[in-house]
Amino acid sequence: SAPLRTHAAAKGKFIGTALATSQLANEASYRTIAGTEFSQVTAENAMKWDSTEPSQGQFNFSGADQIVNFATQNNQQVHGHTLVWHQQTPGWVQGLGASAMRQAMQNHIAQVVGHYASNATVTSWDVVNEIFDDNGGWRTSFWYNTLGQSFVADAFRAARAADPDAKLCINDYNVEGINAKSTAMYNLVSSLRQQGVPVDCVGFQSHLAIQYGFPSDMQQNMERFAALGVTVRVTELDVRMQMPRDSSKDTTQATYYRNVVNACLAVTACAGVTIWGFTDKYSWVPDTFSGQGAALIYDENYQQKPSYTAVHDAL
Ligand code: XIL
Repeated sequence: SAPLRTHAAAKGKFIGTALATSQLANEASYRTIAGTEFSQVTAENAMKWDSTEPSQGQFNFSGADQIVNFATQNNQQVHGHTLVWHQQTPGWVQGLGASAMRQAMQNHIAQVVGHYASNATVTSWDVVNEIFDDNGGWRTSFWYNTLGQSFVADAFRAARAADPDAKLCINDYNVEGINAKSTAMYNLVSSLRQQGVPVDCVGFQSHLAIQYGFPSDMQQNMERFAALGVTVRVTELDVRMQMPRDSSKDTTQATYYRNVVNACLAVTACAGVTIWGFTDKYSWVPDTFSGQGAALIYDENYQQKPSYTAVHDAL
């Protein structure tokens, strides 16, 4: 049967995956599935600040270029992830005073976005990532504590200046349904756009868990963002479960994957769905959520799971 990307393309959407550089370099089965099933890729870590600018002014694009070159060879688009985040950012950034930090941020964005500005494979960026608390307040990160809210508008303006054609996104988790956090994001996007700040796109990470229920108003939430004039995308989909895996959990998980794809298909402004990896052999879930796992669409032996079939059949 045809790969996921063929079905997604027929619906005018992308279907993507996050990729890790070491697996891409070392494992043929990983490479084959990554290159055939998906039409879009995101670097799982290789474009983050600690990889691209580990010390001030010393830029390293080796891992990022590896992902972009793979994508180019396989006719895939790359979503750049991520320019400004409170994690995986070197200590030298976190210790700067306000004007030096703003300058370092603007330079980082200019260099990283600029490196790919003329590369047709890289079409969009997560400009800021995870700036809200779950209660809808601003996350008190070192960015916010040092610069206040202004870093967000400054970051988007710097990204637009570095690549006028790239689609610029704000990205977060627990914003899939309508809740205090997604409403805070909605209000910020609305206000930034009214001020002429170039926010083109909203990313819903979608790190879901079967034990927490499905956000049944996901389509409605996407629609309210679309009405602001932005595109939306699912950026980091996975659906974890309490281990061990069993067939009943697999069935619930498959339903969640199907629901996400259907929500995106129902919303014209939704560009597509990126899954945060594809094989349970390599997933951030067991390392981050104790006792949980099996969150992806292939098992550890690269066998397709019910969640793969659900995505395939929904597309
Ligand atoms: C995760 C990666 O998957 C891990 O390999 C890494 O150790 C930590 O970051 N939200 C994001 C992603 O925006 O960048 C995170 O990726 C998962 C949560």
